[in-house]
Amino acid sequence: MVQSFYMKYPHALVIGNWKLNPGTNTEAKNLFTAVRKAIPKDTEAKVVIAPPFLFIPELAKAKSKNTLLGAQDVAFEERGALTGEIGPAMLASFGVEYVIIGHSERRAMGETDQQVNKKIVASLKRKLVPVVCIGEKRRDTQGQFYNEIATQIKALSEGLTPLQLLKVVIAYEPIWAIGTGATATAEDVKEMQLFIVSTLTKLFDRKTAEKIRLIYGGSVKESNAQDLYQNGGMSGFLVGGASLQAGEFAAIIKATKRG
Ligand code: PGA
Repeated sequence: MVQSFYMKYPHALVIGNWKLNPGTNTEAKNLFTAVRKAIPKDTEAKVVIAPPFLFIPELAKAKSKNTLLGAQDVAFEERGALTGEIGPAMLASFGVEYVIIGHSERRAMGETDQQVNKKIVASLKRKLVPVVCIGEKRRDTQGQFYNEIATQIKALSEGLTPLQLLKVVIAYEPIWAIGTGATATAEDVKEMQLFIVSTLTKLFDRKTAEKIRLIYGGSVKESNAQDLYQNGGMSGFLVGGASLQAGEFAAIIKATKRG
């Protein structure tokens, strides 16, 4: 079902979040090469690989027009006394174009909504595209989980101008579906897309809200990608586990065609 909403993003954005994988530099190079080879030549999807920081310099040499680089996190400062952090200018200087912010695995390690907001602002200054993750821990039958999502959206967009917000990608990743094999149904995702747009409309305006690119993440695989893409109302995927297998990842990319 093609709706006018999608005309803003006729081509999908598919991001592979490698998390803490693979184990070595050689394996990372091999996986990147395998992914590049497996991606269908005629795809119009924008493909981004987000490897661990340490592999970025090497993979930057191999990136191409249809395989861009992302990072899995970013500091909210450019420099300073922040042991272990990597700043936005550093990432940009290696050709990184996207940065995942507020992934639930990082929020579980203590990242706050306020830090997420500061990281978005810092990334935008360096023209990195923030891919900001939101998602509920679990679903209840009363729909309370929608409040959790609304709170996250409000916090991430605090102080942003509509123009800044337009540069942000929001990744809806229900935590219960991450790495568990349990996926939200296309219907769940569609309802959430509508809810996110209506929440953003209240905070900004409808025109802006409808232009934000929304993607889905949580156990996306070859077998569910087409249904989620065609019926979930979002314009791409954030893929974890399945992005570590070149063939499976390529099949997900291939499935991002409007029916
Ligand atoms: P998954 O991870 O595809 O392995 O569920 C998604 C993510 O955490 O971004």
